[in-house]
Amino acid sequence: MGKQARAIVDLSLKELVRDLNKAYADEWLAYYLYWYMAQMVSGRAYEDIKEMLEKIAKDELEHATELADLIVKLGDAPLANPMELEKNANNAYLMPPKNTADINRIIRIVAEAEAGAIEVYSKLAKKTFGKDHVTYQLVTHILSEEVDHEEIFENLLER
Ligand SMILES: [Fe+2]
Ligand SMILES: [Fe+2]
Repeated sequence: MGKQARAIVDLSLKELVRDLNKAYADEWLAYYLYWYMAQMVSGRAYEDIKEMLEKIAKDELEHATELADLIVKLGDAPLANPMELEKNANNAYLMPPKNTADINRIIRIVAEAEAGAIEVYSKLAKKTFGKDHVTYQLVTHILSEEVDHEEIFENLLER
């Protein structure tokens, strides 16, 4: 991002990058959690859940990539040390269930993670609205995907 592009950001760049890095950490934790549960899930109908977890894990990794790209554009760097991810995340890491066949528990964990993500991006959208158009556009794009994710899993719970 050039000088003028940064100059039109009507927010503290330092604070903005800190917020984006926190969301970046959330995305890696979500990716890891979903990917892990996709490998471990067992029991009846495990194949459907595995496929869904893998698909959504991919979306979370894409979100991490989009956030990293924006942080770099803003002249900064995403967290370099994976040990920093949990410490910097907005939400604590949700441990996958020990019982890998407990599909309802898996779905509840994902639904909770998605609800956390929706809150984070909704706050970021309010914070950047009219102040940083580029970040606003990215966070609302990610927000709309988190809304879809929550719905997919909530629908599974209601069945
Ligand atoms: Fe995400
Ligand atoms: Fe999500």
